[in-house]
Amino acid sequence: MALKITVSSSDPLQFSADALAIGVAEGVRRTGLLRDLLKLLGGTANKAIKRGEFTGKKGQTCDIATGGALKAGRVILVGLGDLDAVTLADVRLAAATAARLASSGNCTTLAVAISEPNEGLEAAVAQGAVFGAYRFERFKSADQVGKFPLGKVSLLTVKKVNADLRAVVTDAQRFAEAVCIARDLVNTPPNELYPESLANIAKELAKEHKAAGLSCSVLGPKQLKDKGMVLLDAVGRGSERGPRFIHMKYRPPKSNKKLKRLVFVGKGVTFDSGGLCIKPGPGMDEMKGDMGGAANIVALMAAVAIAQPEAEIHGLIAAAENMPDGNAYRPGDVFGSYLGKTVEIINTDAEGRLVLADALAYGLELEPDFMLDNATLTGACVVALGPTVSGYFTNRDGLADQLAAAAKTAGEAMWRLPLVEELREKLKSDTADLKHMGDRWGGAITAGLFLREFVGNVPWIHVDVAGPSMADKAYGIYTKGGTGHGVLTFLELIYLLIAADGEDAS
Ligand code: BES
Ligand code: MN
Ligand code: ZN
Repeated sequence: MALKITVSSSDPLQFSADALAIGVAEGVRRTGLLRDLLKLLGGTANKAIKRGEFTGKKGQTCDIATGGALKAGRVILVGLGDLDAVTLADVRLAAATAARLASSGNCTTLAVAISEPNEGLEAAVAQGAVFGAYRFERFKSADQVGKFPLGKVSLLTVKKVNADLRAVVTDAQRFAEAVCIARDLVNTPPNELYPESLANIAKELAKEHKAAGLSCSVLGPKQLKDKGMVLLDAVGRGSERGPRFIHMKYRPPKSNKKLKRLVFVGKGVTFDSGGLCIKPGPGMDEMKGDMGGAANIVALMAAVAIAQPEAEIHGLIAAAENMPDGNAYRPGDVFGSYLGKTVEIINTDAEGRLVLADALAYGLELEPDFMLDNATLTGACVVALGPTVSGYFTNRDGLADQLAAAAKTAGEAMWRLPLVEELREKLKSDTADLKHMGDRWGGAITAGLFLREFVGNVPWIHVDVAGPSMADKAYGIYTKGGTGHGVLTFLELIYLLIAADGEDAS
């Protein structure tokens, strides 16, 4: 059920809802609405603040039953962090936190008080509400789903409400829902989501956003093999469900300028059993999320169709299921690749970089100004940075700065890792041009170095989201399960790339 989001200039103290949320910066200054609320609420809230249980720290909450002191059943105070440094990402985070709390607390209606006139607040709150209220219940029987889902969020703003503001809120909601496509895809079980069904979803989305400039074409198993995507074919051939190569394209319909061409590539391993180098049973179920990179790219393309940036944007997805079988690829095999380089297979569980290599080489043919690949690529990246931070690699220092800025604006945790040149020799093979992996030391780095072999001299970023793509508990703007971590950053990056002038030669 889609969330209903409305915007009005109603008085929060007079508004009836199951819960009323208000953002509070660090230091808890008792002014304006907060002062009025605390007066009405008396006891508990004031005590919590006095005792220092609620200080307004980012993400902190204080949930107070109003007992009839105002029309809302509960008041949720959400920390915004340092007053002088509150960003739109912080506001989005606070709204998501409130929505998550309301949603898990059986509130069906939530009001959010927006008591500053600042630009963008309503959009940030609407997005946060969608992220926090997100649930994945497609496979639950009717009597197993929560009886009181959060269905309505009312934004109570001090701004004048007109058609423009309503449109801003509607767009923000649609955009956030597009981001949530990534969550849905990651959460969908692998018997339902396989290369062909993923391709169908991408095609459906393109149809839905056709007027907005989105299109999609798909290569089937035979076509991609004939085209020379040898590595994608190799990874996919151990499965009954053959691989697909998905090419989504966006161009703003009305623009006839020369636009920058940006290519985004996603790893779409719809299930990673490890292949013949099979993974241990415990935890293997999590490998339904091994298409998290692809999910992000599909979601990004839908979000882009809504946001309408002035750039030509391609989304390329190499989709395959990595399974053991009599026809599966083996350690020791040597294959060519779409680029032409030959590759010796060492471990069939290092499959992601293989499918990405062919997709990146295909991307090169588009003569892009920029390429980014996104993948749940290595456990080593999770060991390095923990489960909530993704690691990125790039062949341009200038791009690293841009990605860092984009991630900061988006409120997503990403950390640059180095392409250590000394490790390149680990990829030397006795029989082929390249081995696809080194040893376990610096495993995320050697994966990045392998990918670099397939991007020529194009400015490129590789983002390993193996950790944050799926969450084992809710945090930040994310709910448990698929997170879509990365999509917001990539959209911000698109705007930075459009704004940046000229070639980045650094
Ligand atoms: N899909 C995995 C990486 C992964 C690990 C994603 C944990 C999400 C969470 C990838 O295909 C893989 O199996 N990588 C191996 C590489 C190794 C065989 C060189 C790994 O990280 O162990
Ligand atoms: Mn693997
Ligand atoms: Zn994998």
